[in-house]
Amino acid sequence: MGVIVAVDGPAGSGKSSVSRAAAAALGFGFLDTGAAYRALAWSVLEQGGDPEDAAAVERALDGFAFESADDPDERWVRVGGVDVTDAIRTPRVTAAVSGVARVPAVRTRLNEGFRARLAAAEPGVVAEGRDITTVVAPHADVRVLLTASAEVRASRRAKELPDEDHSAVARSMAERDAKDSRVVDFLEAADGVTTLDSTDLDFDGTVAALVTLVREAA
Ligand code: C5P
Repeated sequence: MGVIVAVDGPAGSGKSSVSRAAAAALGFGFLDTGAAYRALAWSVLEQGGDPEDAAAVERALDGFAFESADDPDERWVRVGGVDVTDAIRTPRVTAAVSGVARVPAVRTRLNEGFRARLAAAEPGVVAEGRDITTVVAPHADVRVLLTASAEVRASRRAKELPDEDHSAVARSMAERDAKDSRVVDFLEAADGVTTLDSTDLDFDGTVAALVTLVREAA
């Protein structure tokens, strides 16, 4: 089995972009687990279902065929062959995703797929999400909680969404973290998980710190 690097963190911590860049630097594959939850939320909305209704979510889960690029230099995400790379990042999907993610059958099913991807990864993979260090891959070779202060996270996210109102972005991020952390705890590092606080680091510095943690462990 290849080297498994598990990275968790709250919204706006930069875990996707940092994990992707670290995977590229290491020559590893990359798995963005949030993309799978987002893709399922997109499917529920596409079918006209209510993402807060567990029965509608379970209907969408039936036959849900998620695929995403392993290569960190590629970004595509597909559901049943349909490219949803951009569609899963809209505010509408972002607002729907926590409802979908709290359905236990969803977590069980998606985790199976994630574990199969991790088991097949050679020479390694960086997987990021909310419960990778604790539930999906508690025995990963490297386990990291990537954090940053709430202010820094909100301002980084606002830069990604220049057309949105900054305080609205901060509010919706905090609401999503509050909802998500009722389902899985990613606000505190679990036993044996290294906290990487990027509040005072720039992007390259954060990637370098993650790559160093992996190289030290290997
Ligand atoms: O990381 P990202 O913001 O794309 O995640 C989208 C959503 O997917 C989160 O807000 C959370 O509801 C859900 N999620 C999860 N467990 C994971 C990854 C994401 O519940 N491992």
